[in-house]
Amino acid sequence: MTADAGLKGEIRVPVELGERSYEVWVGPGVRHRLSEVVPRDVARVAVVTQAAVADAGITVDPGVEHKVFITDNGEHVKTLGAVEELCREFAQWGLTRRDAVVAVGGGAVTDLGGFAAAVYHRGIRVVFVSTTLLGQIDASVGGKTGVNLPEGKNLVGAFWQPAAVLCDTEVLETLPSEEMRSGLGEMAKYHFIAGAGLDSLGLPERIARCVEIKAETVAADEREAGRRAVLNYGHTLAHALEAHGGYGLRHGEAVAVGLVYAAELAHRTGRIDAGRVDEHRRVVGGYDLPLRLPAGADADALVSLFSRDKKAVDGITFMLDGPEGIQPVNGLAPALLRETLEAIR
Ligand code: GLY
Repeated sequence: MTADAGLKGEIRVPVELGERSYEVWVGPGVRHRLSEVVPRDVARVAVVTQAAVADAGITVDPGVEHKVFITDNGEHVKTLGAVEELCREFAQWGLTRRDAVVAVGGGAVTDLGGFAAAVYHRGIRVVFVSTTLLGQIDASVGGKTGVNLPEGKNLVGAFWQPAAVLCDTEVLETLPSEEMRSGLGEMAKYHFIAGAGLDSLGLPERIARCVEIKAETVAADEREAGRRAVLNYGHTLAHALEAHGGYGLRHGEAVAVGLVYAAELAHRTGRIDAGRVDEHRRVVGGYDLPLRLPAGADADALVSLFSRDKKAVDGITFMLDGPEGIQPVNGLAPALLRETLEAIR
């Protein structure tokens, strides 16, 4: 599985999932190629987007009759109520099971629009036009769609693979810097999954390589039975920090601190040497992301949250780097976890 250059310079990354295979196109201006990836037999398209995307002047033309449905801004739009509202609007417009949804925006829009597509008429086709760095290298690829409940994030959803994904690197120029930082934290993560050489790539190539790493991981474990957990590298601490309100960190910044913490833990359990810990600091610092636990973070509270992380299978589990790459490590002692938190404060 390798990325390929398309006719107009875009990078095409295949996601190989048998009959559910699709391509992710990465490059400046690829949103203007939407009509080439909307399946040919689709007559009408419901374009689902957020006001912030429209306000940034990001528009798309699927090349067939279409109607734009604009949701509220932000992650809080991911509710079952929003799914019902969208599906009712689709029905009132007369969208059929042969038609398609095109979701244009960041992860919240592709998760919501993807899930609405997964359940409307028991599943219609969906294409994602991803407009944030975080969305491009994470949320738009892999097929997990869904919404949040008051009881937790992404508790209701479906595996529903898109027909195609467009990652337009031109629109990243309009992205607020804090949104960009959020994506850079996920990008830093890929350096340790299979990302040797990422440093030497320009932005579109680097995004394409991250997508390729994600695509390979998803192809090996579409339904998240095991291998996909490597994508959670750095996330156990990040999720615990976020559960405490984030201490002013955005998702990618919390992941950045989580990567340094995971490296320190791996070193203290004899899995990696000091040079590899330094490599984590170099990569995270190279993206100008935080390396330390925020002041005021409550170590005891964080350790008790680790055992509730949804990826925990046997006591406190972390994804840790080691001689055979990133693997789940079970049964880490709370005292070690606490002491290592203090070491990165
Ligand atoms: N939609 C993100 C994933 O499947 O991982």
